[in-house]
Amino acid sequence: MSPRLPFGRRSLPRVYVTRQLPGDALDRLRGDAEVEVWDGEEPPPRDELLRGIGDAEGLLCLLTDNIDAGLLDAAPRLRVISTMAVGYDHIDVEAATGRGVAVCHTPGVLTETTADFAFALLLAAARRVPEGERTVREGRWSTWHPSFLVGYDVGGATLGIVGLGQIGQAVARRARGFEMRILYHSRNPNPEAEREVGCTYASFEEVLSLSDFVTVHVPLTPETRHLFNEAAFQRMKPTSVFVNTSRGAVVDEAALHHALASHQIAAAAIDVTETEPLSSQDPLLRLPNLLVTPHIASASVATRGRMAGLAVDDLLAVLGGRQPAHCVNQQVLAERGG
Ligand code: DGY
Repeated sequence: MSPRLPFGRRSLPRVYVTRQLPGDALDRLRGDAEVEVWDGEEPPPRDELLRGIGDAEGLLCLLTDNIDAGLLDAAPRLRVISTMAVGYDHIDVEAATGRGVAVCHTPGVLTETTADFAFALLLAAARRVPEGERTVREGRWSTWHPSFLVGYDVGGATLGIVGLGQIGQAVARRARGFEMRILYHSRNPNPEAEREVGCTYASFEEVLSLSDFVTVHVPLTPETRHLFNEAAFQRMKPTSVFVNTSRGAVVDEAALHHALASHQIAAAAIDVTETEPLSSQDPLLRLPNLLVTPHIASASVATRGRMAGLAVDDLLAVLGGRQPAHCVNQQVLAERGG
């Protein structure tokens, strides 16, 4: 609880927010905290971030903000970092835990929206939608032809899901509507999800070699970094389509480039890249069989509002001594006895 000041005034905890947020999230935050918001479109530069969190008790950040140990050392009063993202690979959680700082994130609220987008990418790459659109706009559409821009059927094909968390399961539910055979690989088999969404566990190698479509839904960790490397792409069918809406660094981009350029796989659709934004000069962009979007899988009006709302709720919960909905280092709160 914040200490009471004379004449009924409360001292509010200071919170630094690294971007303007959608919806009424900031207004709600301002009701219970003294809030400073970085107003730029781009992430705050490091100097600004260091200044902003210097005496802050709460930090509300985005996945583009790199929150490392050096930054945490500059914020001795910090009690909570709440990121408006499900993925928290941009935060050094170990360093935060060591300094008694709780880390919260926003799983659940973006599941369906992200799964919609993964499926949109899958369909678009399978049926060569972006190539078709470019062909029309560039005046290269001469006639209907039996082999003009032919792609691959999605209905009845085999889908391989790598990572059967909430988003992976939501993709599986969509795949059932397309009567797909669904294989999956996860750290651990999940019999309950298998029953619920109708999918079959297989080894990583089997998922790669048996699937017509492979879609990735794993968090970025030391174990998943470059999980999709040359050896992985070599196992995939030459007619297969690869989809990534997780994190760019799960894929070795040189290996992906080689797999697409040499037609080891038919096509790929990725919403995330190792470096974001991807340079317009990147060799990947010269590949006609690659569809790339700018990390927008969760970008629906309603979902972005829910993500911001949840990030604010959890931040305020920790500052108010209450249990947040999604804390990734719960031990910090347990040690505080709250
Ligand atoms: C997340 O929340 O981690 C997503 O990548 C944002 O869309």
